Amino acid sequence: MNHMESFLARLGDDRVIQGPMAGYSDRAFRHIMIEHGCRVTTTEMVSVEGMVRNGEKTLELLRLADNETSDGVVVQFFGADPHSYSKAVEMLLKSYRPLCIDINAGCSVRKVVKTGSGVALMSDPKKAGDIIKAVKSVDGTLCVSIKFRLGLTFDSINYIDFAHVAVDSGADILTLHPRTASQGFSGVADHSRTAALKKKIPESIVVASGDVMTVSDIARIRCLSDCDCVMVARGAIGNPFIFEQKDKLAVHSEERVSALYRHYALLKHYEGERRAECLVRKFVKGYSSGIRGFSFCP
Ligand SMILES: Cc1cc2nc3c(=O)[nH]c(=O)nc-3n(C[C@H](O)[C@H](O)[C@H](O)COP(=O)(O)O)c2cc1C
Repeated sequence: MNHMESFLARLGDDRVIQGPMAGYSDRAFRHIMIEHGCRVTTTEMVSVEGMVRNGEKTLELLRLADNETSDGVVVQFFGADPHSYSKAVEMLLKSYRPLCIDINAGCSVRKVVKTGSGVALMSDPKKAGDIIKAVKSVDGTLCVSIKFRLGLTFDSINYIDFAHVAVDSGADILTLHPRTASQGFSGVADHSRTAALKKKIPESIVVASGDVMTVSDIARIRCLSDCDCVMVARGAIGNPFIFEQKDKLAVHSEERVSALYRHYALLKHYEGERRAECLVRKFVKGYSSGIRGFSFCP
């Protein structure tokens, strides 16, 4: 089996992957998603420069959850320097070998973009290609994906050309969030663009990311885009049930509340009591929306 076949085999028939979310997809988050049937998780984005500078400390961010195995995790890196990527990957491989290494070319947060990382890479496809080559140069059998948007603005849409450069440089997987950087998260994800990408580059694994909030969105986007895999990001916040093909509102409120307390217990386990109390607040609304009179008591 080559690494692309291994990736698809790992996903199983559902072909749904949990997407990277800075500030959310930490170990506790991934742990509870796996408990609800998620087969492939993705870390938060991790700075390659941080890896190069702080080594062990940044590697902490890449520690696996207790129920997570390295062959089911995608590690996402961000940065702009190919050399730093190869160093970061070398360091990571001393700890474990992930299912895939993902390169962030989609983050539109100013702090990231101004360093030439994230979606800024879309204005420099050659550099993105050099980054992919740098990762592959560490180990040519590593599975490498790149996650990107349509382009910077509607006037500079270049996702197809960008994807061609990525594939020619060795990318195995193309993950498209079909919005422009200037859109941020506004408007809708235009998955007819994802379909166009799959049509142009059928030999690559294409992952569709964007506006996957319910079980029916998974089927709708798969059908609309002809993608190989659908990525769930915001739709998994306070909603691990989506990986069991269950809609949150169809899940009994007691089960949702008990999942919230389970998530909290996992946060305490991984992050300690004090941090957990703060972190859990981001999830309360997701788990409890629509439950009348609910109040969370940490
Ligand atoms: C809070 C938050 C953090 C995110 N962090 C990352 C990240 O670290 N790396 C990345 O590639 N995308 C990140 N994304 C984008 C998501 O992975 C996904 O592509 C996007 O939210 C669209 O999918 P959705 O509409 O199904 O959520 C983030 C999104 C959100 C809402």
